[in-house]
Amino acid sequence: MTAGAVVITGAAGDLGRALTRSFLDQGRRVHGADLKPCPVAGVIDHRLDVTERDAVFALARRVAAEDGLAAWVNAAGLLAMTPVREASEADWQRLLAVNLSGTWHGCAAALESMIAAGSGGVIVNLGSLSGQLGYPGLHPAYGASKAAVHQLTKTYALEGARHGVRVNAVAPSVLEGSMGDAFSNDQRARLIRANPLGRLGTMEDAVGAIAFLCSPQAAYITGATLPVNGGSFMP
Ligand SMILES: NC(=O)c1ccc[n+]([C@@H]2O[C@H](COP(=O)([O-])OP(=O)(O)OC[C@H]3O[C@@H](n4cnc5c(N)ncnc54)[C@H](O)[C@@H]3O)[C@@H](O)[C@H]2O)c1
Repeated sequence: MTAGAVVITGAAGDLGRALTRSFLDQGRRVHGADLKPCPVAGVIDHRLDVTERDAVFALARRVAAEDGLAAWVNAAGLLAMTPVREASEADWQRLLAVNLSGTWHGCAAALESMIAAGSGGVIVNLGSLSGQLGYPGLHPAYGASKAAVHQLTKTYALEGARHGVRVNAVAPSVLEGSMGDAFSNDQRARLIRANPLGRLGTMEDAVGAIAFLCSPQAAYITGATLPVNGGSFMP
């Protein structure tokens, strides 16, 4: 990663907080952006709705001007546990707006500022195993939005490559945390039984993969969707 700050959307969430702590531990300046305050000491905290495109662009330009923008992680997201036949159109719109459009705005805004600065950069998107496999207990918009994020990642990787900007995604399976708690005990037990490594993932598992994709060790990796799923799906 080049010199400069990291922006993390969804910074108040389980993964966002863990990522914020990890980048702060690496000595990075971290700008957290969420609807809610991020409680991690040392973060530069911004109120942001990722569905508001102009606000996302304004944040990217401000961070680039003040600190330099080295990395942008699109971790804001919404999940809805809904039997498929009861899935509402309102939830469809909400999930696509945050998970897909919000990630698109983040990619576009970060890329614009990184290209303007001319120093390259790294973007990481939060996809999901749900974007690779069907799961009947979830609103269909969740998996559809995440599959689209995997695809969006490839397009921005090709565009970014011409400017030294790498764009990748991670695709975690269910992680221990509040989103994982939305699954019933039965669902969690079934997922653990079916998982080759015999457990759910942790926030640290996802943080490790994202930190790697942001690091110089991943300098030749772009357009990838890295599975973080204990071997439960091998695309
Ligand atoms: N936790 C898991 O099991 C898991 C698995 C695969 C993928 N993911 C993805 O990882 C990302 C982080 O998940 P998490 O576990 O931290 O979830 P979380 O619910 O703890 O955090 C999500 C954060 O996104 C924020 N957010 C929601 N809508 C927003 C908006 N419009 N603008 C700005 N912020 C908004 C929320 O306020 C929240 O702080 C999500 O994209 C999720 O889909 C999570």
